[in-house]
Amino acid sequence: MIKYVWAEDLNGGIGCENHLPWRMPADLHHFKEETIGHPILMGRKTFESLPKILPGRKHYVLTHDQNFAKKYRDNDDVEVLLSTEAMLKCLAEHQDELICAIGGVSIFAELIDQVDILERTIIDGKFTVDTYMPKINYVQFELVKKEAHDADKKNPYAYTYLTYHRKSKLKK
Ligand SMILES: NC(=O)c1ccc[n+]([C@@H]2O[C@H](COP(=O)([O-])OP(=O)(O)OC[C@H]3O[C@@H](n4cnc5c(N)ncnc54)[C@H](OP(=O)(O)O)[C@@H]3O)[C@@H](O)[C@H]2O)c1
Repeated sequence: MIKYVWAEDLNGGIGCENHLPWRMPADLHHFKEETIGHPILMGRKTFESLPKILPGRKHYVLTHDQNFAKKYRDNDDVEVLLSTEAMLKCLAEHQDELICAIGGVSIFAELIDQVDILERTIIDGKFTVDTYMPKINYVQFELVKKEAHDADKKNPYAYTYLTYHRKSKLKK
């Protein structure tokens, strides 16, 4: 089962210069809660945007770079996938467990017909971004949970957590 976990602004922006465009500790906490204990799948740039290897989660990283693969060869926390085919094989091997796809754009786009659960955060602001979430046809999903939060001292923007499940009839 595949779950996307991401945060976007009011324009669908998700990244800028290989960072998150905002500082929202509440969403980082939410990300941790949504992913801890599960394998996380990401592109090489998203991996490099992380502050460190995240504990309690096996990292599957997609890249074409053989040297990157060599660098992490002996690291049990990171497995490098060198093609879409390798990613699909990895997903097939994990089909009985939840795997969290955490971006970026190409992974979100490539798995759009397979994803089962969407864990979306909307940050109530418009930011300077260079990376956008690919279009999702939300008609194929049912909104099962919505949780709105006001801005507070630590989180300068209001934010909403939305959980969607794929309508099983439409699942390919
Ligand atoms: N707001 C959020 O929730 C969120 C989530 C994720 C990311 N982000 C942001 O988005 C930005 C990074 O995302 P991005 O979309 O630019 O990059 P990305 O998808 O994380 O990484 C792109 C790289 O992944 C590798 N890749 C992708 N598809 C591949 C394939 N089929 N086979 C082999 N390798 C493949 C390639 O690496 P090589 O170039 O090494 O070959 C490619 O350059 C950052 O700003 C980050 O902060 C935000």
